[in-house]
Amino acid sequence: MMTTNAATIGIVGLGTMGLGIAQVFAQAGFASIATDAHAPARDSARMRMEQALTARVTAGKLTPQARDATLANLHIVETLSDFAPCDLVIEAIIERADAKQALFADLESILSAQAILATNTSSIPVASIAATAKHPDRVLALHFFNPPTAMKLVELAPHAGTAPQAIACARALTETAGKTVIQCPDRPGFIVNRCARPYYGEALALLEEGHPATEIDAAMMAAGYRLGPFALIDLIGADINLAATEGLARAMQDHPRYHVFASLKTQVASGHLGRKTGQGFLHPNTTEARANPAIAQRIEATLINEAAWLLAEGGTTPDGIDTAMKLGLNFPRGPFEALAHYGKPAIRATLAALAAAAPAPLQPRYAPAPFLTE
Ligand SMILES: NC(=O)c1ccc[n+]([C@@H]2O[C@H](COP(=O)([O-])OP(=O)(O)OC[C@H]3O[C@@H](n4cnc5c(N)ncnc54)[C@H](O)[C@@H]3O)[C@@H](O)[C@H]2O)c1
Repeated sequence: MMTTNAATIGIVGLGTMGLGIAQVFAQAGFASIATDAHAPARDSARMRMEQALTARVTAGKLTPQARDATLANLHIVETLSDFAPCDLVIEAIIERADAKQALFADLESILSAQAILATNTSSIPVASIAATAKHPDRVLALHFFNPPTAMKLVELAPHAGTAPQAIACARALTETAGKTVIQCPDRPGFIVNRCARPYYGEALALLEEGHPATEIDAAMMAAGYRLGPFALIDLIGADINLAATEGLARAMQDHPRYHVFASLKTQVASGHLGRKTGQGFLHPNTTEARANPAIAQRIEATLINEAAWLLAEGGTTPDGIDTAMKLGLNFPRGPFEALAHYGKPAIRATLAALAAAAPAPLQPRYAPAPFLTE
C-alpha cells in the first residue's frame, strides 16, 4: 500500500541513475522534486518513468493506482529554486568534482540549514566534494546501484566531517524508501566496487598462468556464484571493467592488489568486449569445464583479503561488507562468510603460497590483512 511520507526529496540529474532514484522515493510516497540541466532530459522524464511503471503494471507487479500515485509524487521543475522545501537532495549528475561542488554551492543558498546534500558519485572522494561546501557537515554519499529501482543496496559514505544527525537522517529516509543501507568509509570504490576487484583480477592472473576461462568460470559457478568472472566481464563489457580497474588502481596508488592485468588490456584492444560486441572472453560460449575447487578457494582467498584490508581502514563491519557484496553483486556469500567456511589458517596458507609463486612485483598483492593474522 502507498504510504505518505512527510519529507521531501530532491533529485538532480535525470539520467540512468537519477530517474531511477526519483522513482524509488516517489514510489515510497515521498514528494520528489527533480530536475536536469538538459531540457530534453527534463521534458522526457515523466514519460520515461511512466513507461517503466506501466511495464510493471503489465507484468502484474504493480497496480495502476500505485503507478498513478507514484507519478503524482513526481514534480519535474526547471530551476533549483524550486528545491527549497527539500529535506534531502541527491545528485546524480555528471561524474565531475567541479560540477558537483558547483551544484552543492547553488543548493546551499536555496535549502534550509538542516537539509542533507547527498552525492551518488562512484569514484570522487566525498571529502573533496564537501571541501567547498559552506556546511560540509551535511554532505555525504548515498551510492545507489544500477538499476536503482531493482537493486536493494545503497552504500552510505560519510566523510570525516559529516554530522551524525545527517547520517542518521539520510539512512532513515533511504530505508523508508525500501533500501538496505550499509555504511562504509569514504574510500575508493566504497565496498562493492572495491571488494569485487579480486573476482576479476585473480581470474585474470589464473588466465595468464594458462588456465582456460571456461575452467575458471566453472570453478566459481560450482562454488555457488551465479556468473563466473569471465561471464561477468562479458556482461559488463571488458572496456567498462578495464576503466573501473584502472580507476581504482590509480586511486589506490597502483598497489599490486589492484594490478591491471595485461590480458584485460589485450582483450579490450582486440575489440571483443563481450555481449555488446557479440564476442568476449567466453561469450557466446558458456562453460562446461569440470570444476576445480582450488581455483574457487584461490579467488575467494583474495576476495576475503581485500575485504579484510577494507575492514582495517575502519568505518564498516564484516556483516556490512558481507551484506553489501551479496546485494550489490548477487554473490552467494560474503567474504567473511567464506572466511568462516575455510578458516583463517587455510586462507593464510593460500595467500602465502600465492605470494611465494608470484613474480616479485606482484608478491605484495597477497600480503594478508591484519584481521587474518590476529
Ligand atoms: N550508471 C551507473 O551504473 C552508476 C552507478 C552508480 C553511480 N553512478 C553515478 O551517478 C551519477 C550519474 O550517472 P548516470 O549514469 O545516471 O549518468 P547519465 O549521463 O545517465 O545522467 C546524468 C544526467 O545529469 C545531467 N546533468 C549533467 N550535469 C548536470 C548539472 N550540472 N546539473 C543538472 N543536471 C546535470 C545530464 O543532462 C544527464 O541527464 C554519476 O556520478 C555516476 O558516477 C552511476
